[in-house]
Amino acid sequence: MTKQHERRRFSTYALPTLENQIKVQMDELGNKSSRLLALAVERMEITNVMEYEAIAKEKLPKMFYDYYASGAEDEWTLQENREAFSRILFRPRILIDVSKIDMAATVLGFKISMPIMIAPTAMQKMAHPDGEYATARAASAAGTIMVYKDRNVVEQLVRRAEKAGFKAIALTVDTPRLGRREADIKNRFTLPPFLTLKNFEGLNLGKMDKTDDSGLASYVAGQIDRSLSWKDVLWLQSITSLPILVKGVLTAEDASLAIQNGAAGIIVSNHGARQLDYVPATITALEEVVKSAQGRVPVFLDGGVRRGTDVFKALALGASGVFIGRPVVFSLAAEGEVGVRKVLQMLRDEFELTMALSGCVSLKDITRNHIITPSDRKYMSSRL
Ligand SMILES: Cc1cc2nc3c(=O)[nH]c(=O)nc-3n(C[C@H](O)[C@H](O)[C@H](O)COP(=O)(O)O)c2cc1C
Repeated sequence: MTKQHERRRFSTYALPTLENQIKVQMDELGNKSSRLLALAVERMEITNVMEYEAIAKEKLPKMFYDYYASGAEDEWTLQENREAFSRILFRPRILIDVSKIDMAATVLGFKISMPIMIAPTAMQKMAHPDGEYATARAASAAGTIMVYKDRNVVEQLVRRAEKAGFKAIALTVDTPRLGRREADIKNRFTLPPFLTLKNFEGLNLGKMDKTDDSGLASYVAGQIDRSLSWKDVLWLQSITSLPILVKGVLTAEDASLAIQNGAAGIIVSNHGARQLDYVPATITALEEVVKSAQGRVPVFLDGGVRRGTDVFKALALGASGVFIGRPVVFSLAAEGEVGVRKVLQMLRDEFELTMALSGCVSLKDITRNHIITPSDRKYMSSRL
């Protein structure tokens, strides 16, 4: 073999550098630990929806986990979204035949098997390679859009949604600016290179800025129309016949404006406590919205729903159904589609049991008298 040949052979079998060796070992370790984690998840009996969060935290890179988990600023509302549920107690009825329980619900004319649906959460591919596909397979997903400055872009998105067979549009109205999620700012959250905003491909929306603070905040700030108003809700109706759900209502005043402006439904939501901190928990705001809607349109709720008992409480306060956000991304991260299925099944089972133990055999049996809220307790003690 000539010297030249030898050199060439050598160059194709370059000696591993220390850096490469470390990388190989880290990759092996990574594979091993994710295999171990998968094994642990398989063996561990997951008994409630909340347990998926710890698994997701273990499994995901910190920046991704933080993006999913965090709320705005002090995260007071984030905590309150859960705690407010725990202050509502039951007034169960007894000796009612609960051998058959029907959880079927009708949402905007469509029959679904239970009043539990999946909220729109962005960027699910950071949780699992199958991302939104897996979630959509695990449940029939509802579509969402945000209104961008360029109405032409919105129109194209609406056409796509119509073509794809979406049955409704959830118009998110609580995001004229992105809330301050300090974890994202600290992590300098940016879109990972393997992830694109597929919906916007070909629409020339520009790339996410990778500069100083939260990359997502910069991106959304550049694209979202801060001047969005009720006029735009009317405009949206002029370009589509799909029913429009206004997502992000927290007050009686806005509930009646939403109805006046043609909303087919209202979602009481604080964006999973990711926007304005110190707004009330959604379960606390629900009743005033329901009262204001006066049965003219259905009212839904999302935010902190983690138990079948939470679903029951929301329905007792007048919701027609609930949506879940984080439990989906966390279970997706832990176990992909199987995880999301399990989450829906666990909530279904818990909700069914709550109905049975409260003496309700169908959704219409669930009434305001089945629960007692802090304001009821105040009212009762003021009369003593
Ligand atoms: C990671 C993440 C991304 C979200 N992305 C969106 C979004 O793109 N559009 C939107 O309307 N709401 C979005 N939301 C809010 C959810 O639709 C929903 O309101 C909230 O997650 C419900 O609260 P929960 O997570 O406590 O169940 C997002 C929430 C999370 C956690």
